[in-house]
Amino acid sequence: MARINENYLKLPGSYLFSEVGKRRRIYVETHPEAEVISLGIGDVTLPLTQSAIEALHKGVDEMGRAETFRGYGPEQGYAFLREAIASVDYAIRDVQIAPDEIFISDGSKSDTGNIGDIFGIDNKVAVCDPVYPVYVDTNAMAGRAGDYDPATGKWDGLIYVPGTADNGFVPDVPDLTGDDAPDLIYLCFPNNPTGTVATKKQLKSWVDYALENDAVILFDAAYEAYITDPEIPHSIYEIPDAKRCAIEFRSFSKNAGFTGLRCSYTVIPKELKVGGVSLNALWNRRHSTKFNGTPYIVQLCAASVYTPEGQSQTKGLVDHYLENAGIIRRGLVGAGYSVWGGVDSPYVWLKTKDGMTSWEFFDYFLNELNIVGTPGSGFGPSGEGYFRLTGFGSRENTLKAVERIRKGSLL
Ligand code: MLT
Repeated sequence: MARINENYLKLPGSYLFSEVGKRRRIYVETHPEAEVISLGIGDVTLPLTQSAIEALHKGVDEMGRAETFRGYGPEQGYAFLREAIASVDYAIRDVQIAPDEIFISDGSKSDTGNIGDIFGIDNKVAVCDPVYPVYVDTNAMAGRAGDYDPATGKWDGLIYVPGTADNGFVPDVPDLTGDDAPDLIYLCFPNNPTGTVATKKQLKSWVDYALENDAVILFDAAYEAYITDPEIPHSIYEIPDAKRCAIEFRSFSKNAGFTGLRCSYTVIPKELKVGGVSLNALWNRRHSTKFNGTPYIVQLCAASVYTPEGQSQTKGLVDHYLENAGIIRRGLVGAGYSVWGGVDSPYVWLKTKDGMTSWEFFDYFLNELNIVGTPGSGFGPSGEGYFRLTGFGSRENTLKAVERIRKGSLL
């Protein structure tokens, strides 16, 4: 008799962004006259850059001619893209990453979710709280999170490292050593959902902690393009010895607008070993078995990001969303909210008003202001009483939303 993976039955409700989307749809259906502004899920709104479009056209033309047609590519990604990443994203920052330490994929959501395949079920997992829900849910699916307690909003098998207003939403390393210390640690900076960034000193404390405890850091750097402060590291590998303890995830979604195209990459340095076993070799085995590569035309498009025109046009997209985030941030501060993020990040994190819970505030924003945001509690118990807005909307909608927030009502 077939049996299901019972861990799935332990998952509460639906995936956060599906729930937000569902509530938005219901509202729009029942209020067809409402002009609802979506600043919930971090999905981009600007079209692809000119250089990306040209690369896609070139790829399509190549695929249409017998002499240049390509079938299966290397599962790990084409050398032209891996080499461009190594030289532009890393060598420029004095970080030496070899092309065969880079694995091209179809998204950081998939990779941060799938990376658990190469780790044993008995690893103790630490997540920051609030946190991107994919890290938690995929560990729950694998059976690494234990049981969910609706009363606390926590999984009893996970270690939650709280981000709070007191630590500026940049959690400190946990006070756990020996057998109590985590084996796998998920970090995300610039942070989703709070928009905060970690300094070199703060990241170094995590790297030192991981090395002391033989733990592996899973570092999600999907938003690194949004860093404007020259003192803030873009890569965990800017921290000495991080190659011995960290895997890094990067995406083309939020910088180059690939949320619909799908391309990302994961870096696993060869010196990263667990019990003497190379994680690069394990991931290579997993990737080449379960994945047949990102489409050639998409990789060609991703490589266009690394040309001089691509770099400046991509920066144009990022600057646009950063300006939106700044508009939201300033608007919220002006309206009396306590706010984090929105400076080196597209995300703005705010404390709800009048003691409202995150979902009460979601309803207030949707019903009274016709703005969709994301409830902080959906990112974990420490997110309760907070709310996230994104800079990924259009400029027009961003300005309109801020005006509604300022007035506390529809215009
Ligand atoms: C978010 O809104 O947190 C992100 O868009 C989710 C994602 O990238 O999967």
